[in-house]
Amino acid sequence: MAYAHPLLQVAAWLLGLYALALAWPRVASLHLGQSRRFNRRRHQITGLAALGLMLLGTLGGALLGRLYLGAWLSSGAHAWGGLLVLALGLWGLGSGLWLANRPQPRRLLPLLHGLGNLLLLILALLQARSGRALLLTLAGGGQ
Ligand code: HEM
Ligand code: HEM
Repeated sequence: MAYAHPLLQVAAWLLGLYALALAWPRVASLHLGQSRRFNRRRHQITGLAALGLMLLGTLGGALLGRLYLGAWLSSGAHAWGGLLVLALGLWGLGSGLWLANRPQPRRLLPLLHGLGNLLLLILALLQARSGRALLLTLAGGGQ
């Protein structure tokens, strides 16, 4: 059961990377003066799936953490990183849905949306590092 949360987060991260790759033509057309085709629909679907799964995985991690460690958010860096991922994920979802439902020429909001999500994907990599250590501690008999 302890592995369910890490596996979900890795799957969500890969989907997020795909959403980022799909958004790259949009970065090129909005900020680099290149004319590129942006598959908006596919970006929205994979982005929604990535962030939805990652937020569910984060809540699942918090529940399992409570179960295995005996207290809420007691693992230190991994727990704080999780809260940051939660905040960035909500921002990515909210700003993305706003952009999707109210299309009009914009530059700043898409940029803030893209940067927030990029930061989230980088932070998730650091979570994998601290999470691995946590997993080894649990596998070794717990704290
Ligand atoms: C991990 C998830 C996501 C990543 C990494 C991501 C990344 C990006 C990036 C880098 C851009 C280009 C921004 C720019 O060039 O200034 C973008 C644009 C956009 N994203 Fe996302 N995004 C994600 C999730 C979502 C979600 C969940 C939605 C909505 C359901 C969404 C809707 C959009 C839309 C509509 C644009 C185009 C905005 C415009 O042209 O005005 N994204 N995204
Ligand atoms: C986006 C990435 C991730 C986020 C946001 C995240 C978030 C969280 C949170 C909030 C907790 C509760 C911590 C506590 O109670 O102190 C947790 C628990 C845990 N996390 Fe993560 N995590 C992520 C990725 C990972 C990865 C990749 C691994 C493993 C390599 C991992 C391993 C664990 C373990 C072992 C626990 C204890 C509960 C359990 O066994 O499921 N996490 N995580």
